[in-house]
Amino acid sequence: MLKIFRTKKEHKEDFELDMDNMPNHIAIIMDGNGRWAKEQSLPRSMGHKAGMETIRLILKEATRLGIKNLTLYAFSTENWSRPKDEVGAIMNLLVTYLKKELRECHENGVRMNVLGDTSKLPAECQKVLNEAIETTKNNIKINLNFALNYGGRDEIVRAIKLISSDIKNNKISEEEINEKLVEKYLYTKGIPDPDLIIRPSGEQRLSNFLLWQCAYSEFWYSNINWPDFKEVDLKRAIADYQNRDRRFGKVK
Ligand code: FPP
Repeated sequence: MLKIFRTKKEHKEDFELDMDNMPNHIAIIMDGNGRWAKEQSLPRSMGHKAGMETIRLILKEATRLGIKNLTLYAFSTENWSRPKDEVGAIMNLLVTYLKKELRECHENGVRMNVLGDTSKLPAECQKVLNEAIETTKNNIKINLNFALNYGGRDEIVRAIKLISSDIKNNKISEEEINEKLVEKYLYTKGIPDPDLIIRPSGEQRLSNFLLWQCAYSEFWYSNINWPDFKEVDLKRAIADYQNRDRRFGKVK
């Protein structure tokens, strides 16, 4: 049992984390970068830059706490309709992040992975992503998944197409289709479903994130914008998760 006391300055109440009951997979919708920037009269791209710094903090803390899978929603299939310069800024930040952090991530056992259709990303992004995935492929401390050009509906449609094609080519038969088989056709193949989905910034919706995988996920919302999200907020989310009664549709 790790006892974590918040400083008086941070928060008034105390909480404990049960190190034997950590969520295996935490997924985060990194929301509120734009509003954070607006509050400081900065361009939206500066909010994303600040959000990138938060990734560093939260990855480090999640690794320290023994979380095995961390998935970050970085760019959705719908985000392409944002202004061109904002899309460009996010893509550039991705390249900056990977170039800057790859070595440290690798040294700390982080295995990087991508969920989504990366073929639509700029060539430089694809290059640094492939390099990061290849370099870290044997690491086992924590899986860091970036959802990039990711949409839950798109992922399900893609799975349906792949399954139909495999049936047509006699690789599988229709009778074999079940939940386990469908999971093998998702971007998240081999990754456990998220136990805890965190969304900062005050919005309480899924925004097309992990639609199949969230069937029994616990949700946690906070009013803090992602650039202001700190280690203590991650711990608070986990502490709250640990007090939930997960029944998976059954009766205890
Ligand atoms: C949502 O906030 C955030 C995004 C669409 C982009 C997230 C990107 C980063 C954190 C930057 C770096 C990415 C990587 C992978 C290193 P919003 O823009 O919707 O905020 P708003 O709702 O306040 O406008």
